[in-house]
Amino acid sequence: MGKIPELASYPRQPARGKPRGWLMTGAALSALVLLATFPQLTPAQSLNSASSAVKRFVLNSRESGDKDSPYGKFPLADDPFHFLPCTPATLPPPLEDSNAEQTWASRFDPNPAHWSWGPAQERENGTAGGDPYAGRGIFLCGYLEVPLDYTNETESRIVRLAVTKFQVSGLARVGEPATSSAGKKTERTIVIEPGGPGGSGTSYAWTAAPNVTARFSDSKFDVLGWDPRGVNASLPAVACFPQDATRDRWSLLTAVHYAVSGSPRGQLETVDAFNAAMMRSCWEQLGDIPRFLGTGMVARDLEQIRIALGEDELTGYLVSYGTGIGQTYASMFPDSVGRLILDGTEYVRDHRLRGGFGWTALDNTTDAWHDGFLGECVNAGPEYCALAKPKEGKPVTLPTLEARMDALMASLADRPIPAYLPTTGPSLVTYSSMVNSIYGALYNAQSWPAMAQVLYELEDGNATLAVAAVESGWWFYDPATACSPTPVQPSDQELGYLVICADAYDAPGPDDLDWWLSLWGNMTAQSWVAGNSRFYVTLPCRHFSQYWPEPVGVYRGDLNHTLSNPVLLIAETYDPATPLRNGRRLLQEMGENARLIAHHGYGHSSRDTSSCTDGIAKAYMLNGTLPEEQETACYADEKPYLYGVKQDAGTLARRGIEDPLGAWKEHLAELSFMDPRL
Ligand SMILES: *[C@@H]1O[C@H](CO)[C@@H](O)[C@H](O)[C@H]1NC(C)=O
Ligand SMILES: *[C@@H]1O[C@H](CO)[C@@H](O)[C@H](O)[C@H]1NC(C)=O
Ligand SMILES: *[C@@H]1O[C@H](CO)[C@@H](O)[C@H](O)[C@H]1NC(C)=O
Ligand SMILES: *[C@@H]1O[C@H](CO)[C@@H](O)[C@H](O)[C@H]1NC(C)=O
Ligand SMILES: *[C@@H]1O[C@H](CO)[C@@H](O)[C@H](O)[C@H]1NC(C)=O
Ligand SMILES: *[C@@H]1O[C@H](CO)[C@@H](O)[C@H](O)[C@H]1NC(C)=O
Ligand SMILES: *[C@@H]1O[C@H](CO)[C@@H](O)[C@H](O)[C@H]1NC(C)=O
Ligand SMILES: *[C@@H]1O[C@H](CO)[C@@H](O)[C@H](O)[C@H]1NC(C)=O
Ligand SMILES: *[C@@H]1O[C@H](CO)[C@@H](O)[C@H](O)[C@H]1NC(C)=O
Repeated sequence: MGKIPELASYPRQPARGKPRGWLMTGAALSALVLLATFPQLTPAQSLNSASSAVKRFVLNSRESGDKDSPYGKFPLADDPFHFLPCTPATLPPPLEDSNAEQTWASRFDPNPAHWSWGPAQERENGTAGGDPYAGRGIFLCGYLEVPLDYTNETESRIVRLAVTKFQVSGLARVGEPATSSAGKKTERTIVIEPGGPGGSGTSYAWTAAPNVTARFSDSKFDVLGWDPRGVNASLPAVACFPQDATRDRWSLLTAVHYAVSGSPRGQLETVDAFNAAMMRSCWEQLGDIPRFLGTGMVARDLEQIRIALGEDELTGYLVSYGTGIGQTYASMFPDSVGRLILDGTEYVRDHRLRGGFGWTALDNTTDAWHDGFLGECVNAGPEYCALAKPKEGKPVTLPTLEARMDALMASLADRPIPAYLPTTGPSLVTYSSMVNSIYGALYNAQSWPAMAQVLYELEDGNATLAVAAVESGWWFYDPATACSPTPVQPSDQELGYLVICADAYDAPGPDDLDWWLSLWGNMTAQSWVAGNSRFYVTLPCRHFSQYWPEPVGVYRGDLNHTLSNPVLLIAETYDPATPLRNGRRLLQEMGENARLIAHHGYGHSSRDTSSCTDGIAKAYMLNGTLPEEQETACYADEKPYLYGVKQDAGTLARRGIEDPLGAWKEHLAELSFMDPRL
């Protein structure tokens, strides 16, 4: 891969400060994926082949210094989102800027070669008439101002929500005939949010918007992603550590799993003391801001986004924790519900219980490991899964493979494996970090060939690949960057704790460490893969109410309101984070106001592609039609380890075997949207 050209017009996400190491890898990889998928013009080519209008404009703007482009001037008057064509400068202005609108307007860069254009749509003539941008969608960046506290009229503080919109029709040139659709917003906009809490909707839009609109609307609808309050580019930024390095130092102490803690009770005391210190630090750094971060407030923000879009009904594709936002939204604004798909469905009543965000997630994780990761490996065979290679001359069966993996994990629990990496020097493959990586792999079956390769080599006594895979997802602080970023980077991790704790602030029942110890034991007994990470995510809530006893605007009502349109739920049979049971319980409560697709496949949300699921989803998005039955079963089109084998003779399927680390890093980039903590 060559050097990325400075002024290339592929989608490029603005970054404030320096992103953490592996996220940067993720963003760069996504850019490469987009580049590879949609080959585009290099800047030199685009200048050469640009229409004379572009050339004239570039000259004019240099000479006169005016701020018009061949597409006119941005932001447009009265645009509540203040949209500018995205460049690396288009991040919301700081809250303390009293001239925010002017600051923002001055960030308009009139040169279309600097903007982020989408892929050429097949239905249009990509470079017709030598215009490199004709028929191409465009990424527009903006922000929306909403109240910090909707419930208090004397509160003057605001939140600046970062939004990124992919406008499928692109932009209209000045003087273009009024009959052209270019530059027009579409009748509906698909609002997207990838999960978390802490997942960034703008980042999701950057990597997925063209695919989302193709999948659900044949590229007929625009897509808008927003960063929920406290997340990524939205302001105020939420972080409880002034330095990423400090967060990492603690994670060595506080991410030890039940099975390897010499004394679970002692371990719990340490982590709990740390959590007390962390919540104190959140309060010192953020003051009362955490009162305003609960899901009820996020749902109110979403209603403001709908209003700003000028649409009577909300259209959306909300995933994972996004489904929690979606069902809260539907309950609070039942008359605003349009076509809403909730994929990887939670049941937010669970999140009102102590630790409920964790222990209600575990139903199908062990099956996903057993039937999916191991079982499908054996089915696919040694050509596509390293762990299926014959051992001592004997073919591999599911029981023998499972026994081997149990033995490997048990030996890791007894003693970590020492390893060396040129980038980090000495390192260890520990039980806890390996289990977390396996849990992450269960989110996305595309990552399984790489993880199988990792485990195969580890079993063989070679830890090189394992330590590289584990390290690449482990740290926030990248020691290769000389300075820590200022201002402090927002942390999806702390934001996640604060949202989860606000949503459960008044959970009934005991809250002493004995109770939590019992919960930890139960959760890890139910799922050795997911029990620990899910437990640790909710444990900090013990100390939330000491600082913020009454979070604002938390939704406590029913979920069975009569909606202006029914919503479409998708829940997966082997989902490691949002088990099918939760989607079914939500359906039960919503009754006629919802339909459910039981998606038989692997991974978190419906990423295990099923043309049945996609067909139903598209008919709903485009036409508003839904199946009669409350629940419809859909099956994934292909099997893990064998993706693409029929079409491309296994090139895709063997990707994880031939370049396991590359494939693993792509997986981590995707994971960072759905569950930033993994
Ligand atoms: C694409 O360009 C060709 C040749 O100029 C023209 O015949 C055709 O109608 C165009 N198609 C569309 C969809 O504009
Ligand atoms: C409303 O906001 C004002 C200004 O921040 C604050 O002084 C007051 O305590 C708030 N009222 C409530 C009920 O939170
Ligand atoms: C997006 O769609 C393109 C074209 O269909 C496909 O090749 C690519 O793999 C998709 N990307 C993702 C991230 O799904
Ligand atoms: C937003 O997330 C992207 C990764 O998806 C990252 O590169 C960027 O630095 C983040 N921006 C901020 C302000 O945190
Ligand atoms: C998922 O968990 C439920 C228990 O809540 C169980 O009934 C179901 O069989 C599991 N699904 C699979 C595919 O194992
Ligand atoms: C260990 O694995 C790495 C990565 O797969 C490989 O490059 C290396 O050759 C292996 N070392 C030995 C001694 O087999
Ligand atoms: C753990 O499981 C035991 C046995 O089922 C049960 O009695 C106990 O209440 C559970 N603990 C928690 C915190 O749920
Ligand atoms: C919703 O369910 C509650 C019971 O939880 C019931 O009292 C109420 O009537 C239901 N509302 C509607 C609109 O069905
Ligand atoms: C939407 O409805 C139209 C007209 O009835 C039909 O032709 C089209 O196939 C439908 N689209 C989908 C995706 O079901």
